[in-house]
Amino acid sequence: LSKTEKKILEDSIRDIQDFPKPGIVFKDITTLLNNKEAYGVLMNHLYQRYKEYNLEYIAGIDARGFIFGAALAQMLGIGFVPIRKKGKLPYTTISEKYALEYGVDEIEVHIDAFGKQIGARVLVIDDLIATGGTANAAATLVNQTGAACIECCFIIGLTFLDGIKKLQEKTDVYSVIEV
Ligand code: PRP
Ligand code: ADE
Ligand code: MG
Repeated sequence: LSKTEKKILEDSIRDIQDFPKPGIVFKDITTLLNNKEAYGVLMNHLYQRYKEYNLEYIAGIDARGFIFGAALAQMLGIGFVPIRKKGKLPYTTISEKYALEYGVDEIEVHIDAFGKQIGARVLVIDDLIATGGTANAAATLVNQTGAACIECCFIIGLTFLDGIKKLQEKTDVYSVIEV
């Protein structure tokens, strides 16, 4: 990422004070998505990084992880797997509960989502890591299916909450922008 590209990305993300709760500074990526230059810079950067990883699937986390994960999977010519909030997936699932910056939640994945072969190479992607609760649960789920979480990728890494440090005990972690 060049200095100019980094600035295009940083300038495209909007801070919303006190959403969804007092004290939270919410990183709004809708202003990145509707900016074709910023979205393009980002997706091209992710493609260049991951084209040599020999990935077999991208797993995107419901909901904001879908937007980047599905686009990247198409660019790489590989499959996309949704890791969803509880109660949305129709077939047999495994699930994990977790805490996040502003509450608790549960995510799940189809047991056969990464195929029959053991150790399929999976990249987990989400828009942002805060406490790391969500991504940790996602990496756990991927590994529990028999696939292998190779890396967790975020557009924005919030460093003050130590989520990245904790997640690094389990898997490789990459954030495009650190705040
Ligand atoms: C947000 C964000 C990440 C997660 C990060 O998702 O998109 O998925 O929180 O927080 P953590 O690192 O503390 O776990 P959220 O569940 O708010 O909803 P959305 O993606 O469905 O909008
Ligand atoms: N998810 C968890 N913390 C967040 C934040 N500060 N901004 C946007 N999404 C988040
Ligand atoms: Mg999310």
